[in-house]
Amino acid sequence: MKLQGRRVLLGISGGIAAYKTPELLRALIKEGAEVRVVMTAAAKRFVTPYTLEVLSRHPVHMDMFAAVAEFPVLHVGLAQWAELVVLAPATAHLLARLACGLADDLLTTLMLGCTAPVLAAPSMEEHMLDHPFTQEHLRRLEGLGYQWAEPATGELASGAFGRGRMAEPEEIAGQVVRHFSAAGDLQGVKVLVTAGPTVEDLDPVRFITNRSSGKMGYALAAQARKRGAEVWLVSGPTALEPPAGVAFKAVRSTLEMQEVLEALFPQMHAAILAAAVADYRPAQVAPQKIKRGTGKMVIELVENPDISARLGHSKQPHQVLIGFAMETEDGVARAKDKLKRKNCDLVVLNNLREEGAGFGVDTNIVTLVDNQGGQEQWPKMSKHQVADRLLDWLGQRLKARR
Ligand code: PMT
Repeated sequence: MKLQGRRVLLGISGGIAAYKTPELLRALIKEGAEVRVVMTAAAKRFVTPYTLEVLSRHPVHMDMFAAVAEFPVLHVGLAQWAELVVLAPATAHLLARLACGLADDLLTTLMLGCTAPVLAAPSMEEHMLDHPFTQEHLRRLEGLGYQWAEPATGELASGAFGRGRMAEPEEIAGQVVRHFSAAGDLQGVKVLVTAGPTVEDLDPVRFITNRSSGKMGYALAAQARKRGAEVWLVSGPTALEPPAGVAFKAVRSTLEMQEVLEALFPQMHAAILAAAVADYRPAQVAPQKIKRGTGKMVIELVENPDISARLGHSKQPHQVLIGFAMETEDGVARAKDKLKRKNCDLVVLNNLREEGAGFGVDTNIVTLVDNQGGQEQWPKMSKHQVADRLLDWLGQRLKARR
């Protein structure tokens, strides 16, 4: 009963995924939450209020002007009652209305007056999700502190395959549990996260690098911070904004990254190394632009230090080291080899050959290989969801250490 006595307001808007909300409601109630349901007019087309009334054991609210003894001014009463608002599904229309501050029904009106944190589960066709308006609305709401139950990839209402499916009810319920337990389940924990590529210069114009966008590492840093950890994010060049509240250090080359990580690691409880670090660098960096020559050019490369192995072998008994492994073949065998060689506690394997995994995309598909003989494969999830589940793993491992 992890939500015993918690007051959750469930706002349902009119998308096909509304048919899953009775399951979400049951999952919340099973954990002990008290749930009040508010529906938009369109939501009633996808799920009956009666079902939700029976499951929640409370009236379902839809009408702005209904007389409700418990809340004499309904939208104000509900707004004040909620400790957390869950919007599921959050359609493009609902997100647009919220982002623009409209108050044209009970749900949007109460949201204007509600100071409780919001967890929203967007649900729509992929093109609607990608539309610049929707993206702008998501950014605006995020600026107000909205948290997301990230939409998944799969079959959509239209029958098309794509991103935009509402996160599964158990995933949303898990996030609600984490929200309440996490007003800091990682409080007091110092975590070092690496992200992005490293860049090895050849001359003032050219360089060698890789395709890492930094999304995986930034998601880890953001989620760890949200869960109360003190976070240091060391990142190679990316197009991303560092998450709020995180100590940020930008680096370029592997040697720069090594210097920063080796200085920080001794003070940390954990390090999660999601950066794609160049294993080789040019033996010489030309001070001037290299000129065209006689046809053939050979660039001599020298090996970079393996930072993770160096951290692994300096690791103290209370410290936890998580490495990533990006492979294209023999993934598990190579991940196991890295786990041992680098003295990691966990290696998170992702395979470039799998669609929706690895570089650049918003999702990942990972297999965990740990130093107690455990191996676990996770389905495709958003990088934020992968980050959260990895942080669950880290939290448990740190607890066991204590
Ligand atoms: O940034 P994104 O676009 O979101 O993509 C995410 C990702 C694919 C970059 C990420 O999920 C990932 O897999 N990161 C590790 C990529 C990689 O370099 O893997 P590797 O198998 O070469 O390295 C294994 C581990 O050793 C990694 O933790 C790496 O940070 C570390 N390493 C590698 C080489 C080196 N010289 N020093 C290191 O510390």
